Amino acid sequence: MQFVGRTTLSKFVIENTRGQHSEMGALLIDVAAAVKTISALVGKGVLSGYVGGANVINVQGEEQKQIDVISNEAILRHCEWGGQLAGMASEELDEPYPIPEQFPRGRYLLVFDPLDGSSNSDVNVSVGTIFSILERDAPGNAATSDFLQPGRRQLAAGYAIYGPSTMLVLTLGKGTHGFTLDREGGNFLLTHPDIKVPESTREFAINASNERFWEPPVQRYVSECRAGKSDVRGADFNMRWIASMVAEVHRILMRGGIFMYPKDSKDPGKPGRLRLLYEASPMAMLIEQAGGMASTGRQRILDIAPDALHQRVPVLLGSKEEVERLERYHHEYDTGTDRPFESPLFKERSLFRS
Ligand code: AHG
Ligand code: MN
Ligand code: MN
Repeated sequence: MQFVGRTTLSKFVIENTRGQHSEMGALLIDVAAAVKTISALVGKGVLSGYVGGANVINVQGEEQKQIDVISNEAILRHCEWGGQLAGMASEELDEPYPIPEQFPRGRYLLVFDPLDGSSNSDVNVSVGTIFSILERDAPGNAATSDFLQPGRRQLAAGYAIYGPSTMLVLTLGKGTHGFTLDREGGNFLLTHPDIKVPESTREFAINASNERFWEPPVQRYVSECRAGKSDVRGADFNMRWIASMVAEVHRILMRGGIFMYPKDSKDPGKPGRLRLLYEASPMAMLIEQAGGMASTGRQRILDIAPDALHQRVPVLLGSKEEVERLERYHHEYDTGTDRPFESPLFKERSLFRS
């Protein structure tokens, strides 16, 4: 049997959390169980009875689908009972979820986006689950303030991607490792040990419909990528936009690239689209552990001290050379040492120069 003798996720987790964090190992095995439940549901498409249908508006003023709600429930039910947790926080819940009375408490905190990119579930495109584990100083009931820790304090971070195959990609602070679900056997098997993001890339991902709302350094970067060989980059770039951050980050971990959801002026109340605690921070840890970089353009994402559970941040992550370049463009703009940016639409930059 080709699958016998492979490293399962359980084996990997138990071996790598022995001693100080063995309880976190047990928690991660429950997270994997939740992910398998969600994978089975998502994989049934409209036959599950949860895809399509009416949506409600969630705590953040965004559409909440039935599949978001049921995925959230799956994680709560799979993880609340084991005695490892002091509390959970989710994209789908306004306040932290307290561990029900009848279960023991632990010191870990689980934070998650149960279904990322869920608008894609209606069109049969990859979606995912993102999670992060933090620690409280003592077992007990977590308060909101316990969750407000910078991402560099994460003990573990990961995502599951529900695509043609289901994968779970995990870091425990020693590299980023990918496991593929063997649906028949029911196990996640280690298929992508020690993933490395190539340092350079010629592929970028951004929702270009927001271009007029971006800051000049991001406009400059994207304009140069689009100009390709004819401008300062001296090479043609390719562009992708899936609208599932999980799928975008997965592609970058597999073959390099840069993903941007930058600060924009579309809604001045929101300094970015993505949420720090359960989108940006776990992805930043996975990318850094794979040798990439994750930044707001002005600060390392893992160094941001959160001030709210659902705080949003600009996210620029992926291949090191490109994120460094973007940070430089932000610095040059902020210090006024940038070349003045003028839109190629007005034919004043090199893009339209003969
Ligand atoms: P969610 O479905 O959890 O709300 O997150 C969707 C996020 C992210 O996955 C993706 O990168 C981004 O929203 C897409 O935003 P646009 O629709 O603005 O492209
Ligand atoms: Mn999301
Ligand atoms: Mn979501």
